[in-house]
Amino acid sequence: MSQQDTSRRDTQGRNKIALVGAGNIGGELASLAARRELGDVVLVDIPDKEGVAKGKALDISQACALDGFDARITGTSDYANIRGADVCIVTAGVPRKPGMSRDDLLTINLKIIRSVAAQIKEHAPEAFVIVISNPLDAMVYEMQKVTGFPKHKVCGMAGALDSARFQHFICDELGVSTKEVQTLVLGGHGDTMVPTLSYCTVGGVPVTQLIPREKLEAIVARTRKGGGEIVGLMGTSAYVAPAAGAIAMAGSYLLDQKRMIACAAFCTGQYGIDGIYIGVPALIGSAGVEKIVEVELSADEKALLAKSEEAVRGLVRDAERL
Ligand code: NAI
Ligand code: 2OP
Repeated sequence: MSQQDTSRRDTQGRNKIALVGAGNIGGELASLAARRELGDVVLVDIPDKEGVAKGKALDISQACALDGFDARITGTSDYANIRGADVCIVTAGVPRKPGMSRDDLLTINLKIIRSVAAQIKEHAPEAFVIVISNPLDAMVYEMQKVTGFPKHKVCGMAGALDSARFQHFICDELGVSTKEVQTLVLGGHGDTMVPTLSYCTVGGVPVTQLIPREKLEAIVARTRKGGGEIVGLMGTSAYVAPAAGAIAMAGSYLLDQKRMIACAAFCTGQYGIDGIYIGVPALIGSAGVEKIVEVELSADEKALLAKSEEAVRGLVRDAERL
């Protein structure tokens, strides 16, 4: 059997996960997917980066051999190899450089996402698509528009990451186990995101009873700038936690776990929002985004979410003009 023939029927009945973009996040995604044995993995990149995709596929395959994980990992620049993928995770694009806002990326990444969406539509029409490329909320909107896939089969990863950042900062402040802390961040993946204090609990106790208001406000502000903080330190954007967020979503879909994960889902009136993708708590199972969970928000949180909705609508309008 040809090493590059990665069609679904050749994968011994395993799920097939296509990773479009074999850069920093793509490599982490491949490693996590293989190590969790979620399925066989195809890393796709542009022809100039085919060597990188193939090299990462080999490197991760050899690590899996060492650690005893079974997954067939291949690298390619030929989209025909994503044929029949169950899940496509899209990181194609450029990451944010220091001083660049997520929105600055719009023009470059929009062009890329449109071409990727056309390929996914052609070769993996049944896939559950998770977009990571920035600016996230506009990219996921565009992905659905170009593929024409059902809206619940296309979503964006950001809320999982933003909630994890909030969770980490709370754990750090209190010196408690991550297992004790629950967080929920809503809204667009940008400076207007809404880390909710009403749904931040530590062992079931509202965080507002454990951390003084001023400190909490500083943690919320740091969460909102969490991506930029890492860009400032590393000179490129985060890639370990973003991959973990998307793999949690892919796993929930493939294993029908029905986890409730904050992600960019298409709203049809939930939270008073209609017709855009934005960060909301979503149940992810074998049907895709099976349900957007509506929770009570405080008056402040409602106002902040409305502001975030406006920012996302602005981004989508800009994308539609380009
Ligand atoms: P990277 O530069 O390491 O990898 C991106 C890869 O996409 C490159 O290898 C590039 O050659 C490839 N690519 C470009 N055009 C392509 C095409 N048409 N088909 C296939 N591959 C193509 O970037 P990294 O760090 O992996 O980040 C990827 C994206 O994710 C960026 O847009 C970044 O801003 C975004 N991001 C989003 C987060 C979120 O929470 N949603 C968090 C962190 C990053
Ligand atoms: C992040 O939040 C830059 O969106 C990227 O890390």
